[in-house]
Amino acid sequence: MHTTRRELLKAVIGSGAALLLSSGRLGAQPAPLIERAIPSSGERLPVIGVGTARRWEKVTTPAEMAPLREVLRQLAERGGKVVDTAPSYGAAEAVAGELVADLGVRSSLFLATKVGATGREAGIQEIEASFRRLRTSRVDLIAVHNLRDTATQLRTLRELKQAGRIRYVGITTSFPRQYADFERTMRAETLDFIQVDYALDSREAAATILPLAADRGMAVMINLPFGRGRLFQAVQGRALPPWASGFDCASWAQFFLKYIVSHPSVTCCVPGTAKVDYLLDNLGAAQGRLPDAATRRRMEAFIQSDRRGVAGTARVTARACI
Ligand SMILES: NC(=O)c1ccc[n+]([C@@H]2O[C@H](COP(=O)([O-])OP(=O)(O)OC[C@H]3O[C@@H](n4cnc5c(N)ncnc54)[C@H](OP(=O)(O)O)[C@@H]3O)[C@@H](O)[C@H]2O)c1
Repeated sequence: MHTTRRELLKAVIGSGAALLLSSGRLGAQPAPLIERAIPSSGERLPVIGVGTARRWEKVTTPAEMAPLREVLRQLAERGGKVVDTAPSYGAAEAVAGELVADLGVRSSLFLATKVGATGREAGIQEIEASFRRLRTSRVDLIAVHNLRDTATQLRTLRELKQAGRIRYVGITTSFPRQYADFERTMRAETLDFIQVDYALDSREAAATILPLAADRGMAVMINLPFGRGRLFQAVQGRALPPWASGFDCASWAQFFLKYIVSHPSVTCCVPGTAKVDYLLDNLGAAQGRLPDAATRRRMEAFIQSDRRGVAGTARVTARACI
């Protein structure tokens, strides 16, 4: 029987090419984002979100807000959810709250903020201000920022969770000097989330914190995935290794992010994102194949063997307020 081109195309599309179309390779719908479950609830989150430290902090004018508006609009449109902010990030929390309300995308997003105050009353005041700035009656996650007055603030956060005003509680750090304390808190407390720094060239968290999170059933949000600009600087002027295409990696940002989100304990990662081009690039790390264990080791060796690079570059010193 003779098959026409049209019939063939129809048959192929019916039998799975729709999947290819949906993968974006033919320029159609982008592929769905890879998701991971929050262990305490089973709720699934896309593995890439948006961080708001630094670039969102000093924004005031409509012109400065426009690219951030587009970041949030496209994040929601493309199935992204997680937005990480903090009361200590200057204008970031208020800017995020205003844009989310203006875009009408609150129900599509997962808003995460922090409490970094000392003392019960100061903590409550800071949290209430976050609710007002974020313009929402329910915040998805509030985490104790950098272990500041952890016991007191966790007590308040649990009361708020009980009252249905927040959905998840957690703790954060980006300082290896806090890791021992952080681990002690993880062992002693019931937490929905931890947030910690982890990057291809800065992998200390993988030694104990990430496996401990899996053991304790805690979701893991990764901060500082690029070590701010450090990783990009280390590979400046270099082409991606050809084997990166083996895990659908088309940029250095995707190389660094796919390394992170392929760790089995990681739930999501929040690269600092203030440009829509960065957002689209970073969301690409939540699509297609991820590196397997052997490829992850190859990526570590690659970054370590970079003579100009990362091994010799000083680890980022995070600002105290971040
Ligand atoms: N203790 C804590 O709770 C804690 C601590 C630190 C961070 N955080 C959270 O983690 C988030 C991430 O950390 P971070 O923003 O400081 O550092 P980061 O994510 O490691 O790096 C962010 C920087 O990377 C660059 N970038 C982003 N996407 C890119 C792309 N696709 N291509 C090229 N460059 C790209 C941008 O630099 P340029 O803008 O300069 O171009 C951006 O400012 C923060 O925003 C914050 O939400 C939490």
